Amino acid sequence: METQLDILKKKFLLEIENSQSLKELDGLFLQMFGKSGEITLFPKNFSKLEKSELKIISPLFNQTKKTLAEAVRKRRGEVKLADFKKILQEPLGLRKISTDSLEKIKTKKRQGHTHIITQFEEEIIRAFSKLGFAQFDAPQIDSDTYNFELLNIPQDHPARDLWDTLYIETSEEGRVKSEEGENLNPGKLLLRTHTSNAQVRIMEKIKPPFRQMILGRCYRYENTDARHEHTFEQFEIVYVDKGLSMANLLYLSEYFFQAIFGYDVKARLKPKYYPFVEPGAGVDGLCIFCKGKGCKVCGGVGWLELAGAGMIHPTVLKNGGIDPDVYSGIAWGFGLGRMLMVREGIKDVRLFNSGDLRFLNKY
Ligand code: DAH
Repeated sequence: METQLDILKKKFLLEIENSQSLKELDGLFLQMFGKSGEITLFPKNFSKLEKSELKIISPLFNQTKKTLAEAVRKRRGEVKLADFKKILQEPLGLRKISTDSLEKIKTKKRQGHTHIITQFEEEIIRAFSKLGFAQFDAPQIDSDTYNFELLNIPQDHPARDLWDTLYIETSEEGRVKSEEGENLNPGKLLLRTHTSNAQVRIMEKIKPPFRQMILGRCYRYENTDARHEHTFEQFEIVYVDKGLSMANLLYLSEYFFQAIFGYDVKARLKPKYYPFVEPGAGVDGLCIFCKGKGCKVCGGVGWLELAGAGMIHPTVLKNGGIDPDVYSGIAWGFGLGRMLMVREGIKDVRLFNSGDLRFLNKY
């Protein structure tokens, strides 16, 4: 009986060793330990045995049972690991991506375009280039001298109140001090409040006669609301020649309004104070909505104030080294956003700098 058990043990151990799948192992387990399994049924003949024989075979049988069960458990682990390694080595079966299929993938294209203000700048440049105006560049960070002083706006003069200014802190060396150490020029550097800061620079650089235009960013110390913005664009022309008059100014105004609003927009001048022009004028355009009849937009007046202008003040000409007895000059300027708001019916000036695509993509 001992030999029989040994044969059985060896046979099953070999089969367990050779099994290649969990399913095979499950079958073997049943074959040994199932209801009518060979191991299960083995003690069937134990009753015929002598007591002494039983004493030997019983522990041997129990040991064999344990060995076989342990062999199955161990082989299970090996088979599982082998299966797992096989899976790892198997190709995943992914399709190779060809350049062709990449092209088929649709991506949404978003194309940028120039900002509405830039588009308007190009329109203005085109209109005035036709009349022989050339572009001039002036700094956005400027001295109080060019932005105010040389434009006939002395320090502490009430006219400075017309421009709420953003001053820049200058270093100790940059400050002009009195003997007592008092700071005489606290606002030496500033962010230009208007493109008029170019006027005297132009006169210093270019000999008259000349026709120059300046376009660019200006800054004011403003609380923003629908009609006020701290950062905005202005346009300005400086035209110096012999014998210029307000008639030239009116012509230029009307030429421009018709270029951007349409041929039937008239211009009119009304007296207005700017320190650097004499006489100074507010330039009105016939209301583009009611054509003079009076409507909500123009407040029933029939006209809209669109620009500021005038004959350059003799003091300013002199500051630029030009003899006011020989030459006369026209200065004319406006805010781009303001004018676009009228033309395009834009209700809030803050939209221009908002970066809001719902607004920007309309233009
Ligand atoms: N610089 C003025 C402003 O910012 C606008 C202006 C008025 C420009 C009259 C001019 C002018 O050239 O003659 O309010």
